[in-house]
Amino acid sequence: MSYPYQIKSFEAYQEAYQKSIQDPEAFWSAIAEHFTWKKKWDKVLEWNFTEPKVEWFKGGKLNITENCLDRHLATKGNHPAIIWEPNAPDENHRILTYKKLHEKVCQFAHVLKNNGVKKGDRVCIYMGMIPELAIAVLACARIGAIHSVVFGGFSAQSIADRLEDAKAEFIVTCDGAYRGAKDIPLKSVIDDALIGNKTVKRVIVATRTRTPVSMIKGRDVWWEDEMKQVEEKGITFIEAEVMDAEDPLFILYTSGSTGKPKGVVHSVAGYMIYTNYTFVNVFQYEPGQVHFCTADIGWITGHSYIVYGPLSAGATSLLFEGVPTWPDAGRFWDIVDKYKVNILYTAPTAIRSLMGFGLGPLQGKNLSSLKVLGTVGEPINEEAWHWYDEHVGKRKCPIVDTWWQTETGGCLISNLAGITPAKPGWATLPMPGLQMVLVDENGKEILQEGEATISGNLCIKAPWPSILRTTYGDHERCRTNYFATYENMYFTGDGALKNKDGFFRITGRVDDVLNVSGHRIGTAEVENAINMHAGVVESAVVGYPHDIKGQGIYAYVIYQGSHAQDTHGTGDLVRKDILQTVTRIIGAIAKPDKIQFVSGLPKTRSGKIMRRILRKIAEGETENLGDTSTLLDPGIVDEIKNGRL
Ligand code: WTA
Repeated sequence: MSYPYQIKSFEAYQEAYQKSIQDPEAFWSAIAEHFTWKKKWDKVLEWNFTEPKVEWFKGGKLNITENCLDRHLATKGNHPAIIWEPNAPDENHRILTYKKLHEKVCQFAHVLKNNGVKKGDRVCIYMGMIPELAIAVLACARIGAIHSVVFGGFSAQSIADRLEDAKAEFIVTCDGAYRGAKDIPLKSVIDDALIGNKTVKRVIVATRTRTPVSMIKGRDVWWEDEMKQVEEKGITFIEAEVMDAEDPLFILYTSGSTGKPKGVVHSVAGYMIYTNYTFVNVFQYEPGQVHFCTADIGWITGHSYIVYGPLSAGATSLLFEGVPTWPDAGRFWDIVDKYKVNILYTAPTAIRSLMGFGLGPLQGKNLSSLKVLGTVGEPINEEAWHWYDEHVGKRKCPIVDTWWQTETGGCLISNLAGITPAKPGWATLPMPGLQMVLVDENGKEILQEGEATISGNLCIKAPWPSILRTTYGDHERCRTNYFATYENMYFTGDGALKNKDGFFRITGRVDDVLNVSGHRIGTAEVENAINMHAGVVESAVVGYPHDIKGQGIYAYVIYQGSHAQDTHGTGDLVRKDILQTVTRIIGAIAKPDKIQFVSGLPKTRSGKIMRRILRKIAEGETENLGDTSTLLDPGIVDEIKNGRL
């Protein structure tokens, strides 16, 4: 199968773009025709951004797994769907052909049903990067259950919050997960998360690390035992649940500017069509190629470009359990060499971290199979871009800089590999169907005059198929977060530049959301976690430039607890305790890089923290702090400046 809707020239891109804006319904329905439907749609698109309400392919009936699996069986049954590379290079890899993956998904779908899971139920998936994670996700989709994958680095408290918000009754997890030299006891984290939980009825535990776990009678069952029961009956198939185009497919929690993560909801048809379309076009995937996306399935990038995009396109998707720097910093290059990887899609933070190891780890690695490189998650600095281009792509692989979000489901701004121009540091042009605009503080569109580059807040005027539909259980929150800042527009939360060629460069978040190693973390979330520590009176968290992580977390903390245990009086022990608290409440990814103890915070008379000042100080800018006369206590600024870490 090749892809009739794959764009093959710059002119074809321009033509597709024009058409998609003039007549979005005709444009997207022509693409939707190439998928497997149980019943075609009645209406292509209905929408308004005031409620908001967005419905694509309404009345259509389908199941995404028939598009990701069944439809490839005749032609690709024996082709690899998933290549799994384990954490340790000396452990055997696994290959799941489309036939095998289909069989396993069907069998695990039976297991879910046998354990009481029904269409519409929420299933929380907390696993390491093993094929069973993809199988669990697809098995939920097979029977119409809504999966909510939680990244394996989140704490018990974070899981508990997500379980409660989604009112999940089922969990699929592992005994443990390997990540580099670490062995993370996932099941025991789940056990902690379930203390006091009243909704979860069943926990299915897959074996990976064989770390001892407690299995609670009547609640916990083993994946392998459950699968065996199905296998022994000779069952290899289950009918796919008939889903409405607009039925929810999954919930994925993500950070916003408020303290509580939001459950972003994506629906079946629009998400499928858009992730497939962007996978095929952005990466210019050709049948038979090996696609290696290094993200974790716990994030949107893994959902869209390890699982749904590639599999719906009949591609071979490489799933890697480990980390780029273990056992050494040549791990990615060994994998590229071993499986003749054609497309490598990773994050700038990984590139910067590997750059730090020099060229040694690249030596002797055959990277000649690479055709396309990609980045996602944060702005890529030019130095990292050029290193990637020269030393990984050997100057012959186009680099796609893909800008998008959990809420957008798939890439919205990106060059198409080798088809539309690339520009280091620029995500470049919008995908077909995307009407991006820059607005000023008041929501007024900033128009280009002459050749000047313009700058503003990035908004989108009309829906694309994989826009979020709601935030789980709280539609009003979806409205206020994304559709209320500027009238009749989706607000991304990012700032951007647009140049004379219509290229976009993302400058970063304009709200109180940090991007640490490509992970979204809300400052309010981190503050809440810090404030949980006994003795902390108040805290304020801001980002600052970090060489590898992109942004680091800088916390200003008012602490009045006992320093008695802190034998040297330096605050180091208190700092460690605070870090421990944050790890407990959110997870290690949210640990501040710097904690400065202060006696007060710069506040306006109305009690609002002036983050602008704190941000500047954290960034090392101590001179031009702007107007501080409106502060309740301007003196505090000097104290903070002098104590800067
Ligand atoms: C940032 C990840 C610059 C941006 C897919 C966005 C980027 C947030 C890029 C979403 C890029 C993502 N260049 N910034 N190519 N891609 N971002 O939800 O700030 O984890 O709003 O989705 O990451 O992060 P999320």
